[in-house]
Amino acid sequence: MRQETGGKRQDARSKKSEARKILYLAPCIFLLLFSLSYAGDALSGEELFKKKCKQCHKTTEQVLIGPGLKDVTKRRDVEWIDRWLSNPKKMLESDPIAQELKKKFKRAMPKIPEMSDEEHRKNIIEYLKTL
Ligand code: HEC
Repeated sequence: MRQETGGKRQDARSKKSEARKILYLAPCIFLLLFSLSYAGDALSGEELFKKKCKQCHKTTEQVLIGPGLKDVTKRRDVEWIDRWLSNPKKMLESDPIAQELKKKFKRAMPKIPEMSDEEHRKNIIEYLKTL
């Protein structure tokens, strides 16, 4: 009889510690999932690149209509690329780098409707980082 009560108490205690474990783990799992979804997906970016960018940009250093995009994330910061992709025309009005590029390449990069989507820009930028 005594032993049984002891057993029950043990049981209750281990349930409590299990609940505590879940309490600690839940935020970790949440953070992990959140950071994965936030990071952008290079593979979707590559798909998008093939559809929307490849006709003007090579993934090497070679110029096509626009500059080759190899190492572009090393010469421009991600924030600049993000703004550029959202609206190249607007950047041309005020950004000295954009104005310099326009002079050099003679043709202006169009605003691409898909790039209004933040998720798409993130994915493309993730892909550009791999070049
Ligand atoms: C119709 C041709 C065209 C298309 C399509 C195009 N671009 Fe461009 N891109 C250019 C040109 C030309 C420039 C040079 C700047 C200028 O003159 O506007 C440029 C510049 C850039 C730059 C700056 C490069 C540097 O050296 O700083 C990035 C980054 C870029 N493009 C990414 C993209 C991405 C990503 C896509 C697809 C979503 C894309 N471009 C689609 C023509 C294009």
